[in-house]
Amino acid sequence: MTLQPGDVIATGTPPGVGCFRKPEPLWLNSGDVVEVEIEGIGVLRNSVVDRIEDNDSSTEEEVKNEYTEQQATVTKGPPPSISGMGSEQLPKQQRLENTVCVVTGAARGIGNGIARRLALEGAVTVVLIDMNQDDLDEAASQLEQEVTEMMGDKGTSRPTFYGLACDVTNSEKVKDTMTYIAKALSTNGRIDVLVQAAGVVGKTNVLTHEVEEENFDFVMDVNVKGIFNGCKAVLPYMLEQNYGRIVNIASIAGKEGNAGMLAYSTSKAAVIGLTKTVGKEYALNGITCNAIAPAVIRTQMVADMPEKQVKYMTEKIPMKRCGTVEEIGALVAYVASEEAAFTTGFCFDATGGRSVY
Ligand SMILES: NC(=O)c1ccc[n+]([C@@H]2O[C@H](COP(=O)([O-])OP(=O)(O)OC[C@H]3O[C@@H](n4cnc5c(N)ncnc54)[C@H](O)[C@@H]3O)[C@@H](O)[C@H]2O)c1
Repeated sequence: MTLQPGDVIATGTPPGVGCFRKPEPLWLNSGDVVEVEIEGIGVLRNSVVDRIEDNDSSTEEEVKNEYTEQQATVTKGPPPSISGMGSEQLPKQQRLENTVCVVTGAARGIGNGIARRLALEGAVTVVLIDMNQDDLDEAASQLEQEVTEMMGDKGTSRPTFYGLACDVTNSEKVKDTMTYIAKALSTNGRIDVLVQAAGVVGKTNVLTHEVEEENFDFVMDVNVKGIFNGCKAVLPYMLEQNYGRIVNIASIAGKEGNAGMLAYSTSKAAVIGLTKTVGKEYALNGITCNAIAPAVIRTQMVADMPEKQVKYMTEKIPMKRCGTVEEIGALVAYVASEEAAFTTGFCFDATGGRSVY
């Protein structure tokens, strides 16, 4: 049965569990399912576990034990229907409604997952930036198909995905790309959100005295200069509209340092420092700049690393598992939303408990 406004459910009232609905009460039986729509949250379902019969001769003690046993059958995991976003569920909120979002490193992995989540939360335009145009075209059409299927008949408009090839280390190209987005792809000349996930890990499982200068420069160029280029190019648009959300994907390696990953750890520490500075500089302009520091997320980047290095990183996670692209997407959706208005220059944790600061 579906609850209606004004219904009262009471237990322990003879002869069992009752739903007091005017003009006649309804009696619920064991196995009946009661559901109620909670505005803004979803449908809450619960089944009646047992019914106390009229002729029930249970002593008070037996009833107490029965009650305790019933309590033990509580469902494990998150509360039903408010479990957040599973891989096949739509997000419960539309926090990015009508926004124009740009995500770098979005042809695959974490960036791709973030682009998908921003679209599912209502972004009207999602621009994917990465190195290779073919990969981007494939990613854009795949995302479009997935998001359309997931949204079904929900929501009024569908997001449009664009893929733009751009090497984030090339400052001129990054600037031109942002101009093109604002002038040609944005529905209203705005760029509301920039998420910077483009990154490289470089050579790993290498001690500092063995690190090649060339590899160090390469990692710093993509991970640090790339993020600086993106901030520099997008900030004029965000200043103009007096609003913006920049989210930089750093790493736990930047907070703690990972042995065998000097260049990568150094670059991610720099991303955190850069993020704090940008956050402070534009705090009065409606623009926030925050970082996310994930631990190990099973993407191609991690698949390409030596197993020894991956084991070293995963064993440090108290939850004893890798994070998922969906979990990072969910966190980014909040940080990129309008309601995340009083936090800037911060580095959000996504490490399964590895980092507690
Ligand atoms: N996977 C993890 O465990 C993990 C953990 C912490 C942080 N991160 C960070 O998250 C981000 C995404 O990582 P991922 O695991 O999805 O990696 P990934 O290798 O799967 O994806 C990275 C994407 O960035 C793109 N890219 C690289 N250099 C670029 C450049 N110069 N210009 C434009 N695009 C470029 C790549 O082509 C690729 O599509 C990275 O910054 C990474 O450092 C990843």
